[in-house]
Amino acid sequence: MDQASKLRSAIIKKNGYSYMDNPVTEETGPRVICVTSGKGGVGKSNFTLNLALALKQNGNRVLIIDADLGLANIEILLGISPKFGLLDLIKEEVTVEDVMIEGPLGIKIISGGAGISEIVDLPMDKLNKILNSMDLLKNYADFILIDTGAGISKSVMSFVASSEEIIVVTTPEPTAIADAYALIKVTTKECNKVVSLIINKADNKQEGDNTFDKLHLAGKRFLNISIEYLGYITNDRNVQTCVKKQIPFYIGAPNSIAKEDIDSICNKLLGRKEDSKKFSTFVKKLSSFFFSNRG
Ligand SMILES: Nc1ncnc2c1ncn2[C@@H]1O[C@H](COP(=O)(O)OP(=O)(O)O)[C@@H](O)[C@H]1O
Ligand SMILES: [Mg+2]
Repeated sequence: MDQASKLRSAIIKKNGYSYMDNPVTEETGPRVICVTSGKGGVGKSNFTLNLALALKQNGNRVLIIDADLGLANIEILLGISPKFGLLDLIKEEVTVEDVMIEGPLGIKIISGGAGISEIVDLPMDKLNKILNSMDLLKNYADFILIDTGAGISKSVMSFVASSEEIIVVTTPEPTAIADAYALIKVTTKECNKVVSLIINKADNKQEGDNTFDKLHLAGKRFLNISIEYLGYITNDRNVQTCVKKQIPFYIGAPNSIAKEDIDSICNKLLGRKEDSKKFSTFVKKLSSFFFSNRG
């Protein structure tokens, strides 16, 4: 037996059922994009939030899952405090509609909540309840953006490894580049997937392009992979000003260069052909990672 089927029978033995019992269907669902970084503070949350608004502006239904394990970043960026988080889905009376809160322009947000790092330690029936509820999210979104914490923790890797599309954010600083490279190395070793790069806080186009070239070259030479370039975001004071006001710059600074940069990244993302929009596969993979990472 392979590891997955061993796990499956262990789960069935314990609970009498398992999320993984459900057959994978060919239905399509939202594009799941995981936004991650090697180093913290490079601009993941700002990027995720403002990209969500750009996608929404283009007529897509967008859901952000704020999966940062330490701090619920998106909430702070918006100055909101949701009543429920993802983990509240273990409660019988809490539904996915209760945990989704409405953000600007009508985007939806689910807070991971402070306890999300404990998700893998939940009893199996509770974990199953969360995963079954998460499966319903496909009815509410065309895009699901997952804002993860930085680094290579097991929980972050579970989200990353389960998503079809991964966006790594870095800045042009050598420390951030080195951490981005380490993350890409681990990610692509575990699974074969599209890794795209965003260079944030670039002084100009040239600095963005040069930073991408460095990582692209290293990926080609040492990892034998081709990293895709989604674009750069200019180092723009408007971003900081808007963070302080707790308004996304996409709305608070509509004429800013940063907003313009987000729009071109959004267009590039929308232009990309995505055939494998199988959301069920995402939840299924997530469940197998969660189950296999248990103590
Ligand atoms: N393009 C940018 N230009 C200027 N400052 C930025 C930009 N992107 C992010 N920042 C600054 O960096 C800080 C960290 O960004 P944040 O999105 O919270 O990073 P992360 O989620 O990766 O930890 C923000 O508070 C903001 O002040
Ligand atoms: Mg963040």
